[in-house]
Amino acid sequence: MEVPQFGNRFFTEKLNDRANQLLPEAVKALNEIKEQVCVGCEWTGWYDYPQRKGFELVKSIKEFKENLDVFYDLIVVVGIGGSYLGTRAVADALTHEHAGALGKTMIVYAGHHVSETGMVEIMDLLAEKQPIINVISKSGTTTEPSVAFRVIRQYMEKRFGKKEATKRIIATTDEEKGALKQLSDEMGYKTFVVPSDIGGRYSVLTPVGLLPLALLDVDIAELMNGADDVFKTLQNCNEDHPVLRYAASRNAAFEADKRVEILSFAEPKLRHLVEWWKQLFGESEGKQHKGLLPSSLAFTTDLHSLGQYVQDGCRNLIETFLMFEDATSVGDRNVERRLRIPVTGDNSDELQYLEGRFIDEINQAAMLGSEVAHFDGGVPCMEIKMKKLNERSIGQLFAFFETACGISGAILGVNPYDQPGVEAYKKNLFALLNKPGFESLGEELKKRL
Ligand code: PA5
Repeated sequence: MEVPQFGNRFFTEKLNDRANQLLPEAVKALNEIKEQVCVGCEWTGWYDYPQRKGFELVKSIKEFKENLDVFYDLIVVVGIGGSYLGTRAVADALTHEHAGALGKTMIVYAGHHVSETGMVEIMDLLAEKQPIINVISKSGTTTEPSVAFRVIRQYMEKRFGKKEATKRIIATTDEEKGALKQLSDEMGYKTFVVPSDIGGRYSVLTPVGLLPLALLDVDIAELMNGADDVFKTLQNCNEDHPVLRYAASRNAAFEADKRVEILSFAEPKLRHLVEWWKQLFGESEGKQHKGLLPSSLAFTTDLHSLGQYVQDGCRNLIETFLMFEDATSVGDRNVERRLRIPVTGDNSDELQYLEGRFIDEINQAAMLGSEVAHFDGGVPCMEIKMKKLNERSIGQLFAFFETACGISGAILGVNPYDQPGVEAYKKNLFALLNKPGFESLGEELKKRL
């Protein structure tokens, strides 16, 4: 079974020594997750989820999709943070970037910001398509998706009538509470449940991610198989497990005053997988003035912007390379499509030395070359290595990073499952918009602004 591999050949001897010393703590943290005795253990429902509930869920979602009696060519996911990033991570990685222009089913996102223009443009698209809407909010009360959904719901009812609109709207939310649950019950929307023991950023393999991805014809069983591969290897693992080594190594780096972890990737389609990773680690570990700030480098684009800083700026960085042996041809799955540098017999562009070689060879060389250069410039580098980019390997990465994050947060001494810091901005937002109940904070803020 192929699971993500971990490499530390460019992580410095000192950091590797310290990481090895931290491995017993990592093992202890893993066992505490398994035994559900860790800090925040009421939120560890994601661990071993495929075996406990995931495969069953895959079946019921597939059944739902087969019985759906509406035609759609546009899926709109309304949600923010953990309620949309996992879906986008998979959809971007595995589907054609220009699906819409090529006449294929498209997936777009709303409610992950409050840009008025963004919303206007989504409405323009809705008008041209046959949309199906999946509104996703665990709490059911988050401002951004609630606003977007109100706009979209009104449009859907006007265009399709209430009965047809109800068929075209699916809600994913808490089993009992929240405004979205109440509204869905009133309107008769089909609802899927966000499990109460799984927080937003750990929820991609629940209906939160699986439903919209199934609507997009992603092989959700393979995603689940991938996660299961990793959880199986964790059952009776020793200290050498890649998940433990990654979690221990990031903590060794934090102790050595490193403050930023860059996740570098060479395939642009991985951008939202990396955004998902940023949310997972940032929201889980950024507490009590601790934690590595998750950042990213998209190769080779960012080598021409941030590359200078990574090579030569403040030395408080570590870099993790997310490497795929083969990340090509994912836009049209099951169809192998490769592109070579044309052979022209002319060297006026000075590219004759590349003739006949796959374009991806340049990408791979840029990544390896940068790793050595950044290490030589004083940035300790780790590697997470995968074979092929597909549903299975992405499922593996979800389980790999979720487990590493739970362990890493425990070693760091924070609760990796709550997000108390997010509340501060929400209170100020409500106060500035005169939400009832926030009047005195509103007065205070207006004096300061
Ligand atoms: O990870 C988390 O818990 C958060 O990022 C949430 O996913 C995000 O705030 C959205 O919350 P909700 O699903 O309640 O609308």
